[in-house]
Amino acid sequence: MKILMATSEAVPFAKTGGLADAVSALSLALAKLGHEIRIILPRYYNIDRTKLQLIEGELGVPLGGGIEEWSAVYTTELPGSSKKSPVRVYFIDHEIYFGRDGIYGTPSDPDFLDNPRRFTFFSRAVFQLCRKIGWFPDILHAHDWPTAMVPVFLKFWERPLGPGGEFAKTGSLLTIHNLGYQGIYSKDNYCYTNMGWDVFYNAGFDDWNMMNLLKAGLYSADRLNTVSPNYARETRMGSQGFRLDGVLRYRGDDYSGILNGIDTSVWNPKTDTLIPKKYSVKDMSGKALAKEALQKEFGLVLDPDVPLVGMVTRLTEQKGVGELFGPAYGAAWSICRDMDLQLVLLGTGEPWCEYEIQSLSSRLSNFKAQIGYGERLSHLIEAGSDFFLMPSRYEPCGLNQMYSLAYGTLPIVRNTGGLADTVENFNQETGTGTGFIFDDLTSNAIYNTVGWAVWAWYNRREYIEAMRLRGMAQNFSWEKSAKKYLEVYEGIINQLGSV
Ligand code: ADP
Ligand code: GLC
Repeated sequence: MKILMATSEAVPFAKTGGLADAVSALSLALAKLGHEIRIILPRYYNIDRTKLQLIEGELGVPLGGGIEEWSAVYTTELPGSSKKSPVRVYFIDHEIYFGRDGIYGTPSDPDFLDNPRRFTFFSRAVFQLCRKIGWFPDILHAHDWPTAMVPVFLKFWERPLGPGGEFAKTGSLLTIHNLGYQGIYSKDNYCYTNMGWDVFYNAGFDDWNMMNLLKAGLYSADRLNTVSPNYARETRMGSQGFRLDGVLRYRGDDYSGILNGIDTSVWNPKTDTLIPKKYSVKDMSGKALAKEALQKEFGLVLDPDVPLVGMVTRLTEQKGVGELFGPAYGAAWSICRDMDLQLVLLGTGEPWCEYEIQSLSSRLSNFKAQIGYGERLSHLIEAGSDFFLMPSRYEPCGLNQMYSLAYGTLPIVRNTGGLADTVENFNQETGTGTGFIFDDLTSNAIYNTVGWAVWAWYNRREYIEAMRLRGMAQNFSWEKSAKKYLEVYEGIINQLGSV
C-alpha cells in the first residue's frame, strides 16, 4: 500500500508531544511490513535546509482566490529507515507561514493568529506535492486538527473531479491524538480555502458561527480513529467528547481506537545509550546506577532505599497539573512534606505552573525540577525512577507510562484514556498488577495513591520487584498497532472499490 502521512510534527524534525513520536514510529513500522510510506511536514524554521535535498521548481498552491506561490519542497529520508523500504519525508517550505520560531506559537503567543491559514495552506499543499512528484497514495493519513483539512479537500475538491481525477482512488483516515485541540477560528478565514460556502456547511466546519477545522475533518474523512480503545469509548460520551461526541457517535463504526506502540529502538533499557548502564530483567544493576545518577543530577540525597517518583510532562491542564501544583490546594506540597520519598520533574508549559514548581522546589529538599525540554534527561528519569506519576485529566494514549513499564518503573496513573488500557492496578493481597491507579482527579486522590505506592515500597517490596519485571515483559511494539492500521486502510480501500 502507498500511504502519505500528513502531519504537523514528526521526530526528529519537529516535536511538541507524543504526536511526533507516534507518526514517525508508525511510519517506520508500516514500512517494515513492506508498505510504501511517505511523510509530509512543514519546513519549520529550525529544520536545517542545508541538510535536505531541494526538489527543483516551486509549488503552486491554489488558495486565497489565486495561486499561492513562493513555496519550495525539500526532501530527505526518515532516520531509522531500513535500506529495503525507506520512509521518505517531504518538507513544504514557505517563508511567510513557516519561517519563524515555533510550530503552533511561542511561549508568549501560543496560537499564531494566522494558524488557520498556515495549516490550510499546508493541507492543500499535500495534494500539489503529489502532483509535483507524480505519486498518488492509496491512503492520505491525516493527524489532528492541523491536517484535518486534508480529508476535507479530498472529499469536496478532488473527488468531485470524477473518476478521471488523480485522487479518485485515494481514501482518507484522520487520527485523533488529542480532542482538546480542534483549531477553532473566525470563519473569516474560510474564504482563503477557495471553497464555496455550501462546503462550509456540508463539511461541518460550522461551530456556533466559528470555523472548526477538526470537526470538518471528522465529518469528511473516510474513517477515523484515536490512539487507544478506551479513549475512543470515552470520547463518544459527553464527558471527554469536547463537544464533538455527537459527531463521533454519528460516525458509528467508522470510528475506532488503536493503541499506540512505543519505539523500542529508542525506548529500550537494553540498548539505551542515554543512561549510564544498559539493563534488562536478567541484570537490573543498570537501573540502580541510573537512580544514583538521577539523584546526583538533581542534587538529591544519594539513597537507594528512598522511593524516587519521576515526571516528564507538558505542564498543561490536560496533565492534571492543577491538582498537583495549584497554589494552596495542589497535592505536591503535602506529598513531599508527609512522605519519605523523592520527586523529580522535567517539563515546560504554562507560566503559572512553571512558577509554582520552581517556588515549591526551592522550599522542599526532596522535590527538584528542571523547567525545560531534554531528551537525555527524560531517558534518565524513566530509567532512574521507581515510580512515574501521570495524574492526567484526560489521556488519549500516553507514551510515558509505556516507557515507564519498559524501564521497570511503576506508573501511578489516573483511570482514564490509554492509561487505563496499558496499566493494570496493583492488588495488595495477591501482588498482581503493573502500577497504581486512581479514579477521581482530586488532590486527595493523588495524595492517597502516591501514599499507597510508597506504602507498598516500604512494606511489600517483593511485590514491587515482581511488578517491575512484569511491566518490562510487556510488548508495546508498534508492529502490533501497525497491523491494526493496515486493517483500517484495507477497509477504506475496499469501501472505495465497491462505490
Ligand atoms: P503528550 O503528547 O500529550 O504530551 P505523551 O505521553 O503521548 O503525551 O507524549 C509525550 C512525549 O513528549 C514523550 O515522548 C515525552 O517523553 C516527551 N516530553 C514531554 N515533555 C518533555 C520534556 N520536557 N522533555 C523531554 N521530553 C518531553
Ligand atoms: C497526544 C496525546 C497523548 C498521545 C499522543 C500520541 O499528544 O495527548 O496521549 O499519546 O498524542 O498519540
